[in-house]
Amino acid sequence: MTTLVIGGAGYIGSHVVRLLLTKGEKVVVVDSLSTGIEERTAGAELVELDVTAPDASEKLAFQLRAAGADSVIHFAAHKQVGESVEKPEMYWHDNIGGLANVLAACASAEVRDVVFSSSAAVYGVPDVDLVTEELTPQPINPYGATKYVGEWMLADAERAHGLRTVALRYFNVAGAGWPELADTAVMNLVPIVLDRLEQGKDPVVFGDDYDTPDGTCIRDYVHVLDLAEAHVAALDYLRGEERPHRVFNVGTGTGSSVLEVLDAIGRARGVELTPEIGPRRAGDPARLVCSATRIEEALGWTGTHDLDDIVRSAVEARRGAGRP
Ligand code: UFG
Repeated sequence: MTTLVIGGAGYIGSHVVRLLLTKGEKVVVVDSLSTGIEERTAGAELVELDVTAPDASEKLAFQLRAAGADSVIHFAAHKQVGESVEKPEMYWHDNIGGLANVLAACASAEVRDVVFSSSAAVYGVPDVDLVTEELTPQPINPYGATKYVGEWMLADAERAHGLRTVALRYFNVAGAGWPELADTAVMNLVPIVLDRLEQGKDPVVFGDDYDTPDGTCIRDYVHVLDLAEAHVAALDYLRGEERPHRVFNVGTGTGSSVLEVLDAIGRARGVELTPEIGPRRAGDPARLVCSATRIEEALGWTGTHDLDDIVRSAVEARRGAGRP
């Protein structure tokens, strides 16, 4: 089987590429290399292409035919919540325009199976203990909105062109499956804290007065390697006969608070952290933890790594890169 992985030079995409290669699949990576890193795609063919460009649909269709691809995994998108609030047009143009080009290319090249990176950001600020896929999404920022509208586009493309699609709503992804594929962006809690520690600074907790047991926000952290396995399971699902669902949460169903994550980082580094307590960050839900029942039942997928595994892999990847 041959899969075209769009955005395969990014942090999550490259983990999926590596995993598919280890399973003997043929992989072609398409990436603009604007944030992706070429070295991460070792072992796969790399085509440099920006899926948001005006002629991208034709070029993608050409690549799909040339590769003899039978499936596509589409990662390439902007993914910073704060940036999406400041530059909404860029998010709508690139995330939605890029996806439109990908779907049109799949229809034109008669590629049936598509896996799309969605996000827990579609849910906004849900007031429930465990978020199920039945909950009506209410995104509170342009990033989450583009992901939700992207899911509608998949449904429309299924009806119009006979595509078969799955959207994976990622919860909080962290860790590294291979040191050289680690997250080099400093945008999320674990890399931000590791970066501050490297600079000799204490971590900052964004608010400790939430209605949670220790007062800090609770999230569902999923190991990037488990997330990569979820993509492989999604491809298998699309290739099978039965396909009752199109949308899946990808998380563990277990919540960890910011202070629990900091404790895990301290354990992994063998030091005790002394966090500063800062003000709340706008738009943070107190708790965002998923029900992972649907993906377990339909795809047979469960996360196998706990918070300590996740954090340890991130710490070890930095050490492997010669950083403290
Ligand atoms: N946090 C801190 N200090 C920091 C950084 C983060 O206390 O220095 C806290 C945040 O306030 C939040 C938690 O750590 O409570 C996790 O924050 P992240 O920024 O790592 O992740 P978010 O949950 O805000 O966002 C993530 C993804 C988004 C996605 C969202 C969906 O980064 O792309 O999950 O819920 F939209």
